[in-house]
Amino acid sequence: MRKPLVAGNWKMHGLRADIVELVDGLNKADLPDDVEVAVFPPFIHVERVVGALSRSDIKVGAQDCAIQPGQGALTGEVSASQLRDLECKYVLVGHSERRLVLGESDQVICDKFVSAQSAQMIPVLCVGETREQREAGETFEVVREQLGAVIDALGVQSLVSAVVAYEPVWAIGTGLTATPDEAQAVHAEIRALLSGYSKDLAEEIRILYGGSVKATNAAELFGMPDIDGGLVGGASLNADEFSTICRAAGCK
Ligand code: PGA
Repeated sequence: MRKPLVAGNWKMHGLRADIVELVDGLNKADLPDDVEVAVFPPFIHVERVVGALSRSDIKVGAQDCAIQPGQGALTGEVSASQLRDLECKYVLVGHSERRLVLGESDQVICDKFVSAQSAQMIPVLCVGETREQREAGETFEVVREQLGAVIDALGVQSLVSAVVAYEPVWAIGTGLTATPDEAQAVHAEIRALLSGYSKDLAEEIRILYGGSVKATNAAELFGMPDIDGGLVGGASLNADEFSTICRAAGCK
């Protein structure tokens, strides 16, 4: 039985006062017991969020980590070991904004995946196609390649302590959402692909959907059999809306 995960990706949002207000809202939020909840603040706010959360049922993650796991000479980067020291449990890896805007390659993504795990954190590996790729009928191929890059380099067992997030790029921050059927089809494809390697892994791994998840569409998306929660951007910046989304992932 997979416990759903709802992850709030705050991206590059929030001044100190905004973060205090958001965490205050989360501290008071009505969150379900049968859903794991995590928030991913910008690096500069991670320690503040860990300190200000008055409840242990909200985990904290980071949006990125350096390619090398330990401390060292890598100006501007933050290592997985430093994030672990701040009590981060998860790290996003391969978010499309990093793949496409910052040019992260599959090799860099694999290195970050390894770094996260070597610091005892759980990577959330993001995959998803662009609008052009979907229109060209390449969705499954793109997702298979992105997952395959990690499996080929690190072995399928590396996914045992990882989460996958399917995020169609055309749905991120656009207000366009994949329909529950469209999302389910890709999630089922990912699970089938993994099942070819290990039935247990395929059964146990959580596959989140991301891309304009809102309070109004979360229940329908999370109701699909292979969708195990969500990676939520914009709507996670409002504690009330985010907690509604978390509740929608419960009682499956
Ligand atoms: P969105 O972002 O919910 O604002 O579309 C999702 C994400 O990029 O993780």
